[in-house]
Amino acid sequence: MPKEYEYNVPLSKILLQSDGKSINTTNIGIILEEDVPVFCKNKKAQKYRLMPFKTLYSANNNFWRQDTGWDFFLTRETLDKLKEKNIIEPDDSEPEDAKKIESAPQKPAVVPGFGDDYKVIEVMSTAEKIKCLNDIKHKMEDLVSKKTRDKSTVTNVMVNGTRDAVMINHSAIKDVSNLLDSEAKKKTQTLVYTTHEMVRSYTELISQNIFDDELMKRLVEKSNGMIVQHMTRVYLNGVAFLAYYNKFVSNRAAIINMRKTLNAKYRQYYQNLLPYISIDDIVLERVFQKGMIPVPSDLFVKWAVGFLIHDIGKADTVDYHESEASFEPSIVYEHVKLGYNSVVSKTNYPKEASLITGYHHEYYGNPQGYGYFRDHLEHYQKANPQVKPGYCITFDLDSILDCNALAYFPAKILEIVDVYDSVTDPNRVYHKALNSEEALVMMRDEFIIKSPKIDPILFELFTSFLQGRKSKAK
Ligand SMILES: [Fe+2]
Ligand SMILES: [Fe+2]
Repeated sequence: MPKEYEYNVPLSKILLQSDGKSINTTNIGIILEEDVPVFCKNKKAQKYRLMPFKTLYSANNNFWRQDTGWDFFLTRETLDKLKEKNIIEPDDSEPEDAKKIESAPQKPAVVPGFGDDYKVIEVMSTAEKIKCLNDIKHKMEDLVSKKTRDKSTVTNVMVNGTRDAVMINHSAIKDVSNLLDSEAKKKTQTLVYTTHEMVRSYTELISQNIFDDELMKRLVEKSNGMIVQHMTRVYLNGVAFLAYYNKFVSNRAAIINMRKTLNAKYRQYYQNLLPYISIDDIVLERVFQKGMIPVPSDLFVKWAVGFLIHDIGKADTVDYHESEASFEPSIVYEHVKLGYNSVVSKTNYPKEASLITGYHHEYYGNPQGYGYFRDHLEHYQKANPQVKPGYCITFDLDSILDCNALAYFPAKILEIVDVYDSVTDPNRVYHKALNSEEALVMMRDEFIIKSPKIDPILFELFTSFLQGRKSKAK
């Protein structure tokens, strides 16, 4: 517990009237007018966050009295200010709960954005950033060359390396944001190349499934930036899922089973997406252009780079959890365009990677999704009204740019991993983080059955990917 947060006072004590039952609405009105921060403590994970009272209250005007998995406190400093202004009664007795919270373990408050470590990265020169990426690459290569490897060492190197690479790339793009595009590309050239090579060194071990999911979650928490935590988990899980896909499609019997699943459960789903195609013609090769084929290794690395930088357009201060109270669509939607534009104009990252930043919230064109592809599709179809997408998902860049397919394969893979991470993220304040089973049920209901957003066949695969991991951990 950081020193400045000691002696916090439970919000429930401040917002009670003398009868101890009903809420003092006068206090709330005044507190809403003030910019009052609330110290939120996760009961289970012993994590801490500061959130504006106004934001929490607008999501749920009873938030401190319901079991959301969090306890809420006013800081001593805020309390003193409110007392000074006579907003609340002075009370010199130390509340019981304030003493209890003092003994909580010393963990930094989790904050929206990139967290404290980012300050170290931000002041590094470009050469230092490149050296750091090279060091990560060499560590991974060392591990690849070893005959036997310890799972926890591999996971440690993977998590720490991903965390640093996420921050280095974000900061490097920020460094060149005011330069001319050509100068910016020149300046980021070596960094882009080194990141690409670093990612290549990862894919080998991730494909061999040398990865400890539980340990990864614990290590990720060492960073106190919510975006860094999210991007680290999504990159590692995304690449692991892609490797799982590759393994899956090499098994003919598994593909035959997937055809049966498609026929039994999802034909109508896909026909709704491609209404001009007869339902009898909805087969696996219609869902995936050229069928469910393996990802060639060069393309695999390019896509993995895209996973690493997918949220590079996120700002440091915004809460990006969809459906949370402070979710501001106009700001949040921007991260896709900002990310895509900066990757395309300021770096030489491959087109495959930049499309993932621009297309990873498309949701098959559902109104709740957002991204670049729908704009592109609209313009393209206005200019070429005869063109109708013939496939749902493609690997092929030309197919996506010529609107022959509705979605880009790696973006559909990432979408699932991204939504899953968001709803299971322990840093959620407004909603309880879901466990794995709850998340899968919710995603099937909300993102497939009620509203077609994520891809159901890839989701089937994701479910078996998670089950396989769990049974391996036992
Ligand atoms: Fe995103
Ligand atoms: Fe994301």
